[in-house]
Amino acid sequence: MHTVTLIPGDGIGPEVSEAAVRVLEATGVKIEWERMEAGADVIIKYGSPLPDEVVHSIIRNRVALKGPLSTPIGGGFASANVALRKRLNLYANVRPVRTLPGVKTRYDNVNLVVVRENSEDLYSGLEHIVVPGVVESLKIITETACLRIGRFAFLYATQNGRKKVTAVHKANIMKLADGLFLECVRRASREYPEIEYEEMIVDNTAMQMVMRPERFEVMVMENLYGDILSDLASGLIGGLGLTASANIGENGVALFEAVHGSAPDIAGRNLANPIALILSAVLMLKHLNEGEAAHRVEHAVNRVLLEGQNITGDLGGTASTTQITDAIIAAL
Ligand code: NAI
Repeated sequence: MHTVTLIPGDGIGPEVSEAAVRVLEATGVKIEWERMEAGADVIIKYGSPLPDEVVHSIIRNRVALKGPLSTPIGGGFASANVALRKRLNLYANVRPVRTLPGVKTRYDNVNLVVVRENSEDLYSGLEHIVVPGVVESLKIITETACLRIGRFAFLYATQNGRKKVTAVHKANIMKLADGLFLECVRRASREYPEIEYEEMIVDNTAMQMVMRPERFEVMVMENLYGDILSDLASGLIGGLGLTASANIGENGVALFEAVHGSAPDIAGRNLANPIALILSAVLMLKHLNEGEAAHRVEHAVNRVLLEGQNITGDLGGTASTTQITDAIIAAL
């Protein structure tokens, strides 16, 4: 029996979380869910979008499945997603992106993994007004975090049968910050001589990913580049409704979530594609050493996509969240 913290989230979160829970139940893997509330809806009740209780539950269980949480743009409260990553020290964001059968895209051979440093860079939240009309926003890069993410990328490549790691940077302009990042990844690469290592400037990388995505295997980068390029990678395989992610912490804590947000435009209408969160749950099953169940869910998802009869609007179909989930469970 595994005990897992479940944060359904807001917007389409409760709908896709319900779908993922139903699919996991259908695998027969015994999971006890500890349901926790977070996000905008709980501020009045707890005084914070991220109550301590949620963090304590994840620390206790060491694993969590999470739906999206909305963050207001500009003003308002700070992102509960970023707060979760900080408080749990979830330093590595891992997004495997692979061409899925039956999904029409421009490419048919994408199989790459974006490893994004999750703890620093321009996301440290250190901004201030120098004088009215001038804002300074600080990019923080540390040797500790760069070495940690570099080593993580090479270890991931080794453990997952990957042959190449690409470090993505802009060290030609940010000579000190990205220079330090590169120096650390180079150090990590020397510890894994069997893995091929290359470096690529981020703007060129964006073009190469669109022109020849098949040339990439494991890509490691700082927070901001990772945020942008991992969404680009999602687009290569059919969009946000299909992309899963894992957030891994130093102390073995792992939080699994879809890459997409709370999609307020379709929330509450049974229209959301639950596959991204279901595939995030597949990553979680693998993490829990339930590899056999993980493969069965993956096959079931592939079958439903290939048949194309029960797919949601974002994939060109007309099925509801409930219908596609029923179809995946039937395929299991
Ligand atoms: P979004 O990912 O919620 O939506 C972008 C577009 O993709 C929308 O048209 C939406 O309908 C569509 N979409 C997203 N997921 C889908 C799914 N599963 N099935 C079908 N269509 C889907 O991004 P947006 O609009 O930028 O953000 C909305 C809110 O979500 C914001 O408050 C943002 O802060 C939050 N957010 C939360 C994340 C998280 O919890 N990890 C990640 C990204 C955004």
